[in-house]
Amino acid sequence: MSRKFAPSQIFFHWAIFILVVITYAVMELKGITPKGSNLREWMATLHYTFGIMILILMLIRVVIKFAHKDPEIIPTPPRWQIRLAKATHGILYLMFICLPLLGGLSLYYGNVAWSFFSYPMPVAGLPHTDLQHNLKEIHELVADVGYFIVGIHAVGALFHHYIMLDNTLIRMMPGKK
Ligand code: HEM
Ligand code: HEM
Repeated sequence: MSRKFAPSQIFFHWAIFILVVITYAVMELKGITPKGSNLREWMATLHYTFGIMILILMLIRVVIKFAHKDPEIIPTPPRWQIRLAKATHGILYLMFICLPLLGGLSLYYGNVAWSFFSYPMPVAGLPHTDLQHNLKEIHELVADVGYFIVGIHAVGALFHHYIMLDNTLIRMMPGKK
C-alpha cells in the first residue's frame, strides 16, 4: 500500500486550502473598503467565484476519494483518534460543499446579480425575502463554525506530526518522501 495520498488528492487538498483562505479573507476584509467602490465589488465577486470553485473541486475530490485507499498511518494511532479524524473529515467535506450552495442560493433568491468568473448566474426573479435572509444567516453561521472545524483539523495534523511523531501529515505533503 502507498505511504502517501495520491498526488491528485494532495493537489486538491492544498489547492482547496488556498482557495478557502482567500475566500474567507476577502469576505473579512470587504468591510474595510468603501461601500459601492469597485474594490468592494471585486472582492465580493472573488468570494463568489472562488467559493463556487471550492464546491466544484470538493465534488471532484469526493469522486477521487472513492478511487483510492487511504495510506496507512505509521505507527497506528489509537482507535479514538482515527474515529475523530474520520468524523472531522466527513464534516469538512459536508461543510465545504454546503457552504457554497447556501451562498449561491442566497444570491439566487435575493435576486442579486452575480457572476462566476465573468459568467452571469441566474436569479429567481420573484422576491423571496425571508428565504434569502435565512439562507444568508445559515451560510454565515456555517462559515463561522468552519473556522473552528478547520482549526481543530489543522491542530490535529500538527499534533500527530510533532507529538505522536507519526506520518499523518507527511502523507498529505507534496513531494516523493
Ligand atoms: C467555501 C466557500 C465559502 C466560504 C468559506 C464563505 C465564507 C463566508 C464568510 C466568512 C462570510 C461572512 C460571514 C459573516 O460576516 O459572519 C460570508 C458571507 C457571504 N457569502 Fe460566503 N463563503 C463561501 C462561498 C460563498 C459562495 C459560493 C457564495 C455565493 C455564490 C457566497 C455568498 C456570500 C454572501 C452573499 C455573503 C454575505 C455577504 C455580505 O453580507 O455582504 N459565499 N461567506
Ligand atoms: C493548515 C491547514 C491544514 C492542514 C495542516 C491539513 C492537513 C491534513 C492532513 C495531514 C490530512 C490527512 C489526515 C488523515 O488522513 O488522517 C488532511 C486531510 C483532509 N483535509 Fe486537511 N489540512 C489543512 C486544511 C484543510 C482545509 C482548509 C480543509 C477544507 C476543505 C481540509 C480538508 C481535509 C479533508 C476533507 C481531508 C480528508 C482527506 C481524505 O481522506 O479524503 N484541510 N488534512
